[in-house]
This record gives sequence, structure tokens and C-alpha cells, in this order.
Amino acid sequence: MAQTTETAYASHHVNTPLSKNEHLLKWVEKIARLTQPARIYWVDGSQEEYDRLTHEMVDAGTLTRLNPELWPGCFYARSDASDVARVEDRTFICSLSKDSAGPTNNWMEPLAMRKKLKGLFSGCMRGRTMYVLAFSMGPVGSAFSRIGVELTDSPYVVVSMRIMCRIGQAVFKEIDKGARVVPCVHSVGAPLEPGHKDVPWPCNTEKYIVHFPETREIWSYGSGYGGNALLGKKCFALRIASNIARDEGWMAEHMLILGVEDPHGEKTYVAAAFPSACGKTNFAMLIPPRGFEGWKIWTVGDDIAWIRPDATGQLRAINPEAGFFGVAPGTSAKTNPNAMASLSRNTIFTNVALTPEGGVWWEGMTDEPPRECRDWQGQRWTPEIGRLQGRKAAHPNARFTAPASQCPTIDPAWEDPSGVPISAFIFGGRRATTMPLVYQAFNWSSGVYIGATMGSETTAAAAGAVGQVRRDPMAMLPFCGYHMGDYFRHWIKMQRTLSLTPKVFHVNWFRKDKDGNFLWPGFAENMRVLKWIVDRARGRALGKETPIGWVPRYEDIHWDGLEFSREAFAELQHFDREKWRKEVIGHEELFIDLHDHLPKELVYERELLICRL
Ligand code: GTP
Ligand code: SPV
Ligand code: MN
Repeated sequence: MAQTTETAYASHHVNTPLSKNEHLLKWVEKIARLTQPARIYWVDGSQEEYDRLTHEMVDAGTLTRLNPELWPGCFYARSDASDVARVEDRTFICSLSKDSAGPTNNWMEPLAMRKKLKGLFSGCMRGRTMYVLAFSMGPVGSAFSRIGVELTDSPYVVVSMRIMCRIGQAVFKEIDKGARVVPCVHSVGAPLEPGHKDVPWPCNTEKYIVHFPETREIWSYGSGYGGNALLGKKCFALRIASNIARDEGWMAEHMLILGVEDPHGEKTYVAAAFPSACGKTNFAMLIPPRGFEGWKIWTVGDDIAWIRPDATGQLRAINPEAGFFGVAPGTSAKTNPNAMASLSRNTIFTNVALTPEGGVWWEGMTDEPPRECRDWQGQRWTPEIGRLQGRKAAHPNARFTAPASQCPTIDPAWEDPSGVPISAFIFGGRRATTMPLVYQAFNWSSGVYIGATMGSETTAAAAGAVGQVRRDPMAMLPFCGYHMGDYFRHWIKMQRTLSLTPKVFHVNWFRKDKDGNFLWPGFAENMRVLKWIVDRARGRALGKETPIGWVPRYEDIHWDGLEFSREAFAELQHFDREKWRKEVIGHEELFIDLHDHLPKELVYERELLICRL
């Protein structure tokens, strides 16, 4: 047991360090002394390395290679049944003062948290390899981009991050040129004692996803899944980046970015914030339906946007990611053919079902389920077992990790280091009632109010109850790394730096009738709403003024190719005064929580809304 003391520790370097940066080398040694891995490996990001790591994980039982005839270059993973989604109640913003984190974040005093983490991470990588994974959020070398280094004991994280962002040699070069690094430490929290056999998905029931905003640090313990473990994504590109962005005058948002090309070749880019599992990936990859011949949608990003004004005061956005970590259930050749093409090769699937032919399946992928398969927990599953036991073959938050470059509609400018110009922002939640299909804010501050007070039903993307309406401001409730009231103020202030103010819209694809059926066909048909949005943003479509904002009249929507009656549209857009009364009371509850940081503009907007109602 003497091995476990810090002084007795010595880990074996598998390869020579890929950086000469003294700070980085010292920090790697320091974390190794704390976590005591058996080996340290510097990740170069090459294809050979990826092949070797995936091969090792196949041998270890973490990955299954899918049938290369059906799914070339694809792998399958099953997580532990307790490690399937983000854990919001285990996520902490440890700012110096509790007030900076605000009431919507979990907070712990930084010194107390550091003490806690020291205990958790002591010896936590014993028996494992610690990977030194350099990554760039945004194209390497772009002025928009930011760099991190994740020290992780999970090879699954390494291969996933190779798909999700730019990693390896090229990033170490930027570090050696002096680029600032956000240090990220990740452990599954499952040391391997000598002679013990590893499990396919090591993790720990105790989980901590911790951010230190002032020192720009991330520590993640106990989970190997998604945003808990791929630290470039929500931890860095949203929680830490939202802090950097506020300080530097830009925006880090939970938004997809897409370009709309009309039949004349004119292109308009919009960014849209919908909460987790509320349709960003689908909207970003939309294929225009019948009646929209000559129109085309280009995909820039499906989850995160970094947005800043250029020298002329025009907002420009980049997608800091390089891959899609998308919800599998519901994804099909009918609903999202571009996602299906993106995930057809070189993809890692997690928690979907495995078919006897060595393929994957999930609910909604095909009309006919496979006659038999292994479900996401490895149990035998048939449609009948599923029916009788109410068991799904895939976990509702099962995901694919696929390279963005494989998307057939990936925008030619998706890696443009200066980003794409943004003409409109769209907010949208999952709302069975109250919210119309679409409305437009009167101006920027009423648009910020609409985003700030957005509500949505909770989904399987996070652990906890599903289907309850909660306030999810700008779809950032789980991702804003500081006080939500200050974040609203930052949104209000951003307009002052702009020569052109993007128009702001709210959409809801999920309104239901009395019997619980969706009123709107959604998916490709969302193009009809998007066209009105683009036309409004360019100042060439009409609408009608209502108490909540501008709405399209029936004749303002392009209906070619879809039979949708005037009455059905009226029901979809129906303004229910009683429901809106309750809605505004919901806004008020959020505002009470945030009151001492709430910008005046939003208080006035609320008053104006109440007057109009
Ligand atoms: P995150 O990756 O968690 O941030 O999710 P996301 O916002 O990218 O959501 P995604 O596009 O993956 O959609 C989530 C679920 O919503 C899937 O099951 C989709 O099938 C469903 N969905 C997406 N768009 C629509 C729509 O227009 N109408 C309906 N009814 N369902 C939709
Ligand atoms: C989300 O939950 O919004 C996701 C998935 O995009 S995760 O990366 O796990 O956060
Ligand atoms: Mn997301």
C-alpha cells in the first residue's frame, strides 16, 4: 500500500511529451502526482492512434466494432446504467462569491471544493493511463478559437473528443506558441487495483462536474458520459466560455447555426437556441419540403455558437465543435436524412440497441423494429418484450458521435475562421400549450425578454423528471457559468456594439391538441416558418401585431406542398389570454429569484407585456 503515497509515486511515460511548454509539463506532472496513473500518454490525434485506441477498447469490452459492411468505421458502446446523461444537480460553478454564480447554479466555496476534489482525485487514476489531450474549440488558429487540455483516464473520451473537436499535434503547436490553456481534469473515478479486471464502462456513483470561472478551470469526476466527460463541450464551450465572453464582449450560446439559401442564391444565416433534446440538430440539418424547390439549408453547427461583432458591427458566429453528439431516438431517414448520412460511417454510438447483424437500431429509426436485438443494457429485446414490459431498446438519451464534415449539407464556410454573419436569433421550447408556432419580438429588448423567460418541458438529456415545464432562459439554464441576471444584462448590452441588430423570434414545434397529438408536422415543414423568419429579417414579409409580438397571417406563410388549413393554423397560433396570465406569473417567479441582478429593461418589458395582455 506504500505505492499510494505521493512520494512513492512514479508513472511511466508511454511517449515523449508533445509540448515544450513549461507550465503545461509541470501541470501534467502535478496532476499525475495527485491521481497516480500507471502511465501517461500524450495524444497526437492521428488516425493510427485512433485505430490503436479503438482496438484496445474492443479488446477491453468497452467498444464493439459494428459490421463494417453496414457501418464502416463505426463502434458501439454501452454505458453503465447509472451514467446516461448530464447530471445538473452534481454540476457546480465555484466562483469566489456565491453571488457571481447566482441562484440558478449550484455553488460551493472554491477552497472547500478544492479540498473535496483533492480527496476525490487522490490516486483516482491508479492502474489506468492518463491521456494528455490538447483540444481547440474552433478551427485551429482562428481568432475566435480557444484551447484546452483535458487530462483524462478514459480512452472513450479521447476517441470521442477526436470526433467532437480539433485535437493533438496542431493544438500543442499553438500552446508552444503561447496560447492560453484552459486546464481540464477528468476521471471516471474508478482506480484499477493490481490483478483486478476492468469493467466495460468504469464510473463512480459519486459525481462532481466542477467549474472555477475566475481561474478558468474544469474538474470532472465520476462520469464518462457526454457533457459530463467531453469537457470541451458544455463545460468549456458554454460554462467557462460564457464567462470569457462576458469579459471580452462576445457571446457563448447553446445555439445551432444554419444558412438559408433562396432560389436566387441569396444566403441568410440564423442561430437558434432550443433546450437539450428540443430539436437543434434536426433544425440545423433541415431539408426543405415539397413546395420549396430551389431552396437549400446549410449546416454550420448543431449545438453551440460563439458569436461576436466584427469591425463593422455585424454579428458573426462560429461553431466551436467539429462533430455532432446527437440524440439517436427519433432520428430516421424520414425525419433527418442528413443526420443519418452523417452517422453512416466513422461514428461512435452509445446506448442504442445492437442488432444480430452487427448493426444499430433505436426507436424511430425505422417503422419496423428489428425482430430481435440486444438493448442498451445488453438484454435480449424483441418488439413483444418491449411492448409487454414497456422497455425501450435504446435509452432515450442514446447518442451518436459523428464527424460534422460528413454532413451532406455542411456549409462551405463552416470552418471559416471569421465565422458567418447572423441575421436572426430564434428561441424555442417544447411547449404543449400556450406558445404559438411562431412570433417575432418587437425589438431587441423585447427579444431578450422572450429568450430570458423561455419555458420548456424537461427531457432525457439530463437526469431527473421528464416533461415538466421549467424556465430555461436562452436554453442556457444548465450551461450559463455565472449569474443569470448578469447574463441577461450582457445580452442587453451586446446590442450597443452592433450596427445591425438581428431580429428575434420564438418558435414552438411541440404544441398539442386536446388528445395529445402534435398540431404541427414539424421537421422539414419547419422550413415554412424559417422562410417567414428570413423574410421578416430582411424586411420583406408582412405580419400582424399582437400583444406578444408580430405573427404571420395565414397568407404570409408559403403553403405550397402542404395541406394545412386556415383553421388548423389558427389553432396553432391561438392566443389564450388565461394561459398567458399563468405564463407571465411563471416569468415573475424567475425574476423574483434573479431580482437583485435583473436589468431594468427586462422589468419594463414585463410591465409592457402585462399592459398589452
Ligand atoms: P441536444 O443535443 O440535447 O442539445 O438536443 P437537440 O436540441 O439537438 O435536439 P434534437 O434535434 O436531437 O431533437 C430531439 C428530439 O426532438 C428528437 O427525438 C427529435 O426527433 C425531436 N424533434 C426534433 N424536431 C422536431 C419537430 O420539429 N417536431 C417534433 N415533433 N419533434 C422534433
Ligand atoms: C445537451 O444536453 O444539451 C447535449 C448533450 O447537447 S451533452 O453534451 O451531454 O450536454
Ligand atoms: Mn445541447
